[in-house]
Formats: sequence, C-alpha cells, structure tokens
Amino acid sequence: MDMQTTLRLTADTAGIARAAALLSEGRLVSFPTETVYGLGGDARQGRAVAAIYEAKGRPSFNPLIAHVASAEAARDLVAWSDEAERLAAAFWPGPLTLVLPLKEGHGVSSLVTAGLETLAVRVPAHPVAQALLEQVGGPVAAPSANPSGRISPTTAEHVLAGLSGRIAAVLDAGPCGVGVESTILGLSGEPVLLRPGGVAGEEIEAVLGAWLKRDESGAITAPGQLASHYAPEAAVRLNADRAEGDELLLGFGEMACDLNLSASGDLAEAAAALFAALHALDARGRPIAVAPIPERGLGVAINDRLRRAAAPR
Ligand code: TXA
Ligand code: MG
Repeated sequence: MDMQTTLRLTADTAGIARAAALLSEGRLVSFPTETVYGLGGDARQGRAVAAIYEAKGRPSFNPLIAHVASAEAARDLVAWSDEAERLAAAFWPGPLTLVLPLKEGHGVSSLVTAGLETLAVRVPAHPVAQALLEQVGGPVAAPSANPSGRISPTTAEHVLAGLSGRIAAVLDAGPCGVGVESTILGLSGEPVLLRPGGVAGEEIEAVLGAWLKRDESGAITAPGQLASHYAPEAAVRLNADRAEGDELLLGFGEMACDLNLSASGDLAEAAAALFAALHALDARGRPIAVAPIPERGLGVAINDRLRRAAAPR
C-alpha cells in the first residue's frame, strides 16, 4: 500500500470541513466518537472501504459498522422495525449499534457488510462525529482505528502510533468519554446481544421489556468477534489479587496497584480508562495482571475486552 503523510487536524470548523472533503474524495480519516476513534471511509465507495481493510490489515470477512448522523439517515439504509424505533429513541445518538436487514437501494458497498444481508448502523453522540457525518451527508464505514488485533484507540496519539502513514488524517478531539466500543444488538430476528459495550444489556432489556439472548461467541452472525482481539504485546492475566513476578497490576477499586481503572470502583470511569491503561502498561514491556471487575452494567463490556486481551494467540 502507498505510504502517505497523515495530517493531524484540530477538530474545529476548518478541520471538520477538511476531514469531510477527504472522506468524499475516498480517502481515510480517523475521527473521534464517544466510544473509541473510528477509521472512517465513505461506505458507498468500494475502493475507500477496501482501503480501510488494507490500512488495518483486517481479514476481509469482518463486516463494518455504517455511521450516520441520525435515525432518519439510518432508515434509508435498513428495514426499520418497532423495536429499532424504541431503541433509537432511547439510545441514539449514543453507543448502541443495531444490526438490521439491508433495505433496497441502500447504496452501501458490499465490502461493508462482507456480503451479509444485514447492516450494522450506529448514530454516534460525539459532537465532532455528528458534525462530520452531517457534512459528508452519507454513511461512513468505520471500524476502530487500530491495526487488526491490537488495542482500540481512545486518543489521537493512539491512532497515530498504529496507523501513521497509512491514512490521510486524524481529527483530534482529545480522549473519548465512554472508552469501550458500542453495544451491538442483532435485530434481524429475535433480539440478540452480539457484543457487550457502552450501553448495558440491562438498560436495553428495560426498554424492550424482554430478556436479551446473549451470543458472545458470535460465530455465525458476527464473524469479527475473534476470541483473541484487543491484544497488547504483553501477556495478560485476569482476576488477579496481586502482581506476581515481573507483572504490573492494573487495579479496580481501592487497592495497591501500578495503575487503577477507578479507585472509587466506578465502572463508567473504568471503561473510559481501559484502553489507555492497557496502552500505557503495555509500553512498559512487562506482563500485565488485572484485578477482578464486577460482571454487571459496563463491567460486562470491560470483562469481554479483557478476556480477549488475555486470550491465547
Ligand atoms: O464503538 C464502536 O462501535 C466503534 C466506533 C468507531 O464506532 N466501532 C467498532 O467497529 O467497534 P469494529 O469494526 O471494531 O467492530 C464492529 C463489529 C465487528 O465485530 C463486526 O463483526 C460486527 O461489528 N458487525 C458489523 N456488521 C455486522 C453484521 N451485519 N452482523 C453482525 N455483526 C456485524
Ligand atoms: Mg475493533
């Protein structure tokens, strides 16, 4: 692939306009969302989508999320349902992705869906993402802006560390607030939680008034859900009370440790800090031990990412 100089754009009016113009030209731009930085390309331009896979070094069977500015824009792409309407009203804009059947005339490159009959759509809440999507005026395909298999980026520095020279620009708006990726909900049949994330499963159940089916193996519907993912270079050991040998301890709640996700035991604070903490500890070149995180609310998404970081590879 061609190496290029990656621009670092300030997320002001001029920077956002420049980023929108680059996307319309079929170039790749990393942009902030409330969850993590995305690696954006125009979803209607097959070559731009192909370049996303190339820049990430990602297996091409892994489908991408189409980002749009509003629920109205999403309804142009997918077959809408009653459940989708209720969930969009409750959580959009925000960290929830809905997988729905593609609608005729959607115009999205089949590389985005990797040939599936369904499309993952999301309306991000970050004001910079909102402004960018409004200006592009169409769907932007965006996986997290990290090389395939590596930790997701929550700052522009993380993006540049992994992708500098491989994308046209990064729109820098500082650290992301939520810190774990969106929750992915399959709605093409009975509602299925395909990936835990920034909206807790319990909150979705409250809106739907029904229990969600959990499908975290995702073998068929979400081919991207590889067991080893979000991986630091270092070995990762979970549910650790203390560091052993050379390990650095990533803590949660009041405890002695090298770095604490949230000393007060706040799961939202821990989610926002998670990927930056893994990046920081990984840079020290020693194995990482992680304290237990409660399996409720955002803790479900945090533990999912941690299990992938620790999986054998
Ligand atoms: O928070 C997020 O969702 C971030 C930001 C940038 O928006 N994006 C993100 O994208 O996490 P990515 O590509 O890293 O993860 C997308 C996941 C993959 O696991 C993929 O398999 C799944 O979404 N996916 C996409 N389209 C799908 C579909 N039609 N059916 C099932 N799963 C799908
Ligand atoms: Mg990712």
